[in-house]
Amino acid sequence: MPLNQDVLWYKDAIIYQVHVRTFFDSNGDGIGDFPGLEQKLGYLQELGINAIWLMPFFPSPLRDDGYDIAEYTTVHSAYGTLDDFRKLLESAHNRGIRVIIEMVLNHTSDQHPWFQESRSSRHNPRRDWYVWSDTDERYKGTRIIFLDTEKSNWAWDPISKAYYWHRFFSHQPDLNYDNPAVREQMWKVMSFWLEMGVDGFRLDAVPYLVEREGTNCENLPETHEVLKDLRRRLDEQFPGRMLLAEANQWPADLRPYFADGNEFHMAFHFPLMPRMFMGLKLEDRKPITEILQQTPEIPPSCQWSLFLRNHDELTLEMVTDMERDYMYDTYAENKTMRLNLGIRRRLAPLLENDRRRIELMNGLLMSLPGTPIVYYGDEIGMGDNINLGDRNGVRTPMQWSGGWNAGFSTAEPDRLYAPLIQNPVYGYPAVNVLSQLGSEHSLLRWMQRMIMVRASTAVFGRGSIEFLRPANHRILAYVRRLGKEAVLAVNNLSGAAQAVELDLKKYKGNILIEMSGKNIFPRVGEQPYLLTLGPYQFFWFRLRRI
Ligand code: GLC
Ligand code: CA
Repeated sequence: MPLNQDVLWYKDAIIYQVHVRTFFDSNGDGIGDFPGLEQKLGYLQELGINAIWLMPFFPSPLRDDGYDIAEYTTVHSAYGTLDDFRKLLESAHNRGIRVIIEMVLNHTSDQHPWFQESRSSRHNPRRDWYVWSDTDERYKGTRIIFLDTEKSNWAWDPISKAYYWHRFFSHQPDLNYDNPAVREQMWKVMSFWLEMGVDGFRLDAVPYLVEREGTNCENLPETHEVLKDLRRRLDEQFPGRMLLAEANQWPADLRPYFADGNEFHMAFHFPLMPRMFMGLKLEDRKPITEILQQTPEIPPSCQWSLFLRNHDELTLEMVTDMERDYMYDTYAENKTMRLNLGIRRRLAPLLENDRRRIELMNGLLMSLPGTPIVYYGDEIGMGDNINLGDRNGVRTPMQWSGGWNAGFSTAEPDRLYAPLIQNPVYGYPAVNVLSQLGSEHSLLRWMQRMIMVRASTAVFGRGSIEFLRPANHRILAYVRRLGKEAVLAVNNLSGAAQAVELDLKKYKGNILIEMSGKNIFPRVGEQPYLLTLGPYQFFWFRLRRI
């Protein structure tokens, strides 16, 4: 299958997020690797996704699962060689799958040679590559992100007897973006991977690049300048490649990351995600419609990227205090499930393994405006292990079968990089790819079909959205339109059957074709259009004038 050559390919993408080490171990050392992932590309192609996003695979002491990078232009030896990565890239492209990789610009590991030099003496030429200070009193207005582990954004360096700035773990010193040499170097790093052929980057933690006294050190104009400069170089030298922003911010602060179509192509819609869970729990569309109404228009070449879960805690940074309490009470009763300002659980356990709710949430993910991202394992309803530290409980080995090590690895079970999920409900004998492939009615088969339906039209990735406002507020209904095409999505957010009357006057004379079964529903007439939906049921209809 050839790659979609459109420069706006990311608008039609369905992205699968995966960490190399979690997916498949080809050499039996207990750690997933590039050849392993390459062997499983057929599985991903069958799932129907057309892009993968790989979490950091660079040399690293792995104290933040690779987000602590010790060298930017090669790969961690546990995952294979650079040549293995090249092969993976080529095989993915041959299957029509684009490869987006992670790039951590904000900080490095304290083991990175740049930092080792920088801290070695106050006169080292690399001293100014990081943010140093004689006091820990600067930039007081800056929040702490890893609240459960860090007390300050400054850490004392006993070697050069000064403080260095870090927004994340103290072993992740922030690079100094006021230094032109740093900016130049990071572009060099990006070019290295672009030349090899990667299709885009998820740029990690972008709001924090530059610091200024008297501000909260987030989203600063100077930071946007750095990012625009990277984009300018990207467009000049590598047109058609994509930048995706990880900026966990409110809609109004997110908007500038798209600028005039000259900064990021895509950005995660962080504020929407928790509100989907909230709407579901409240059985009310309001949290979802409200946040989408507050979401500013973005330039035509730009795109939101939507997700339900990822490798981090389900972040509750972009909700009010009251909303956060509500989310904690309903989705993380047990305190071990909480981390920083979030909930460290996977999709299926969050939804109490209720197949109807899992389908509904995936239906929303794939029909709201944006590019959906599926987190590995969620397509089979994998569980988590909240007893593993940090966010490791949602990063356990992929469950391929009910056999030895879930088919993930031939190693002794004790050698796996992380223990498999073992419990009776989510453990690999119960939840695995092989058994789900064998059953037409499994979640996996359902996901394959839904992804296929979504991919059958560009309207979901590119169309406009107009909300209908039926009196029944448990129903979330919207029409997506692109050119002559129109798709009506109707979602029942409640656990009880509902009837709804939709105002479809605009579409009088159209018939409705339900998209997964292709059956025809009655023609829209003079009267409000009446539909009934079972608990958590949803429909996608094509509107057709025939
Ligand atoms: C991003 C990543 C997270 C990591 C942090 C620090 O937020 O998603 O996993 O810990 O950056 O690099
Ligand atoms: Ca391996």
